Amino acid sequence: MIKNTLHLKAPGNWINDPNGFIYYKGRYHLFYQYFPYAPVWGTMHWGHAVSEDLISWEHVGVALFPTKYEDSNGCFSGSAIEWNGKVNLYYTGIHYNEINAENIHVDAKDHDAAQLMISSEDGFVFDNFGGKRVVIPKIEDTEIGDYKDTRDPKVWKDGNDFYMVIGSTYKGEVGRAIFYKSEDGENWSYVSQIRNERFGRSLECPDMFKLNGRYVFMGSPMYIAEEAGGYEHHAICMPADFKPETCSLSLHGNYQYIDHGLDLYAPQTNLDAAGRRVMIAWMRMPKAVEQEGEKPWNGMMCLPRVVEMEDDHIYFRVHPQVDQFFEKEILTKEKILSCEEDFQKLSIPDKEPYRVQVTLKEGETLDIGGFRIWAERDFIKTDRSRVFGDIEGHRMISSTPKVYGNYKLDIFAEPNLIEVFVNDGEYVISNVVYGLGNYIKGRIEKIAVGKNIC
Ligand code: FRU
Repeated sequence: MIKNTLHLKAPGNWINDPNGFIYYKGRYHLFYQYFPYAPVWGTMHWGHAVSEDLISWEHVGVALFPTKYEDSNGCFSGSAIEWNGKVNLYYTGIHYNEINAENIHVDAKDHDAAQLMISSEDGFVFDNFGGKRVVIPKIEDTEIGDYKDTRDPKVWKDGNDFYMVIGSTYKGEVGRAIFYKSEDGENWSYVSQIRNERFGRSLECPDMFKLNGRYVFMGSPMYIAEEAGGYEHHAICMPADFKPETCSLSLHGNYQYIDHGLDLYAPQTNLDAAGRRVMIAWMRMPKAVEQEGEKPWNGMMCLPRVVEMEDDHIYFRVHPQVDQFFEKEILTKEKILSCEEDFQKLSIPDKEPYRVQVTLKEGETLDIGGFRIWAERDFIKTDRSRVFGDIEGHRMISSTPKVYGNYKLDIFAEPNLIEVFVNDGEYVISNVVYGLGNYIKGRIEKIAVGKNIC
């Protein structure tokens, strides 16, 4: 079986959104949107990986695949809860109304969406033939939902009731979140909805949870960044008020980007073993990684990040398990200085993930294998142009919002991804890269090189 360390990657071919993320019976289960036949998006399956610590992942094969009329063309994104000792998965089934003669794996014109569930006694065995159940059939009433673009159910339990939020659109013009409620997790009734321009033209992968007694809304609105180079869809979050009795959601102020890089999308959260709220998201990759002796692969997950809220700002912090992974290998500046003649150019063991910490000074630049990070008049900025290849149409420069002179960086790098945590997770900039060099130029305070155990 294929194993990954730190970042879950496509086990060959294609993956996108994290699905059904749950800590269940002593293990983390992370499912993902998976096209098992080629490194491109196509008929969606749920791939399945497990981990004991959120760091070492093992891919354990396909959990869900099309079997029914309602999911005949794809098992789209969804979520997991534990109930009565079982794990329940909720997801969107896609049915194409016309076959695309040239490629049966993409929609020709039109499709239907329904919400389904499936349970498992152990989190590993899913009866795709007999165990699926349509819990919300295709929605015919436009005032309630869109028959086609209503997807990605996120389910949680609060008190005696189960809640479900689903992403949708109103006439393709404005995004909406639709709420359902249930007493048993199986029979669901429509309760309410919110249409809002902060949800773009269509909302994908909504998520809701409480932090310190206050709700946070998270989601992936489509077409909110039309001016930006690259992707038009970006993941956002914001504090919210939610009344469970009526499922009324009100949003306050503007939204925050979950990540200030260019590639993170479709985040999903759940509680870890210690009760922290942890987020994992898909890192979109414009082309597959092709290496000798490896299946081409496209798509990976970001590091697990702890979500916290202070004064209405949502922080994404380094998970303690990630700290622990790098702790053993910390090299102090003194050690580096004594073993490196020229501290200005430090070589890292090839392909090992590594962590670099430094508080930058105004105007100072750090070059991590060709990826540049600098502090410029109250902003942290990054440039990947030298490590992205000649892929057109993607922005190279990223920036945080204003950081008021606080330039504390905690950087995680590996060959295809750099994640820069700024000021203990006040902002994060994550960027997909291709061919990161194994050197560092510039002043650093601490470096830790992880052991790649796969
Ligand atoms: C988000 C998304 C979801 C959908 C899935 C399909 O990236 O478009 O809305 O369920 O991917 O793979």
